[in-house]
Amino acid sequence: MKQVYLDTFGCQMNVADTDRMELVLFHSGYRRTLEKEDADLILVNTCSIREKAEQKTFSLFGGLKPLKMANPDLILGLTGCLGQQDGEKLLKRMPYLDFVMGPDQVEGIAQAVDRVRTTSKSFVWTGFDQEKVYSIPELPGDLPKSPGPSAFVNIIKGCDKFCTFCVVPFTRGREKSREPEELYEEIRHLVSHGAKEIILLGQNVNSYGKRGLKKPMPFHELLYGVAEIPGVQRLRFTTSHPNDFTRETIRAYRDLDILVNHLHLPVQSGNNQVLRAMRRDHTIEEYRDLLAELKSEVPDIAISTDIIVGFPGETDSAFADTLKIMQEVGYSSSFMFAYSPRPGTPANELPDSVPEETKKQRLQKIIALQSQLTEQQGQSYIGKNVEVLIEGRSSKPGYTFKGRNPQYWNVNIQGDTLQAGETVTVQVETVSGHTLNATTP
Ligand code: SAH
Ligand code: SF4
Ligand code: F3S
Repeated sequence: MKQVYLDTFGCQMNVADTDRMELVLFHSGYRRTLEKEDADLILVNTCSIREKAEQKTFSLFGGLKPLKMANPDLILGLTGCLGQQDGEKLLKRMPYLDFVMGPDQVEGIAQAVDRVRTTSKSFVWTGFDQEKVYSIPELPGDLPKSPGPSAFVNIIKGCDKFCTFCVVPFTRGREKSREPEELYEEIRHLVSHGAKEIILLGQNVNSYGKRGLKKPMPFHELLYGVAEIPGVQRLRFTTSHPNDFTRETIRAYRDLDILVNHLHLPVQSGNNQVLRAMRRDHTIEEYRDLLAELKSEVPDIAISTDIIVGFPGETDSAFADTLKIMQEVGYSSSFMFAYSPRPGTPANELPDSVPEETKKQRLQKIIALQSQLTEQQGQSYIGKNVEVLIEGRSSKPGYTFKGRNPQYWNVNIQGDTLQAGETVTVQVETVSGHTLNATTP
């Protein structure tokens, strides 16, 4: 039996791609190992969203080089977004690599490995087949692992938004959706293997159904479709773009009990000039109105977001607008980043006008504000009962299990007679950061 070691950087899309490669390779006789030293094949699924992600990849490969030198039969592959972005350049920089692949070649991982074995020549396999439909067919036989109580399902790939700071439209290509029937089939399969919660995944899930289907279908119809599948207890989706978020989707929140009360809706900046320069194509007032309408239909909905500080041209007063929208919305959590110029993106042509020191200070400020907002909301849970889907064992001393409430807060639980996949109502006693600590009442 051959062994593959897999490492993943980046977003949930990459995690899903790594899982898929594991499954495809499982069917060509590979089993996953957690020890690099035992591997016949090492794959690193990379990300290039910010410079830091790239640097991490290069330092990881620096550590893998001696393994390859000591064992020339070891196959070393770089897959994912950095592969698509830099292709040949990566082979020049790391000549000990056997191959470089992009995110669109995931299904072909076994062929890539065979090609190395038969030709012993390094190669780059990237690009996008515009004609090919987006399908992730079910593979025969056993899964290498069960999906767990909460399972991700890719519904759309690529992105057509071209925000000026972002590499994703270049690394993942044009938007393409998977046929709803294939999705329903996959979800039925996951549920039959123990999944209780389904998280629909894509760079912009609200664009679902516009391209690549036999018959176009709006995103909200997919939500209603999934809600009809027996056994799905919770439904989530991520990520949404404010421009494609429709009234019908707001209505789905109201109509569908299984659609949980959480929405991740990246704002990026609170300032209209910056939003325009980022090509987000909406104003902050439109964003605020959209959330006001959603909150009027679903009062206890939690909103989380992504924010970039230090985008070119962000003045002190523009930055103050970001602090203002954070306070107005009262985000439950935020992913916060200092702007990182990326090669090939339009914003890279703009003068990087905000000094690194200022970016750092602004980042610290929004992190501090978000901690306050999270803390305030956390406090309001104390003494209350929350419903938790148990995902597994807790690593926090004194607690046995962990899971999430509908608003996507982490919850640690004390209680012995529980098991993963169960939904329980627990009482919150203390809170730390975005985590609630609870006991079974
Ligand atoms: N498709 C998602 C986000 C994908 S990338 C969306 O549109 O919301 C995740 C986050 O990384 C982005 O929301 C953005 O906040 C951040 N990001 C992307 N490019 C960046 C860059 N060049 N510098 C800093 N942060 C970046
Ligand atoms: Fe990037 Fe914008 Fe697409 Fe999100 S919507 S993936 S930020 S281009
Ligand atoms: Fe990174 Fe690619 Fe995801 S650049 S964030 S792995 S889509």
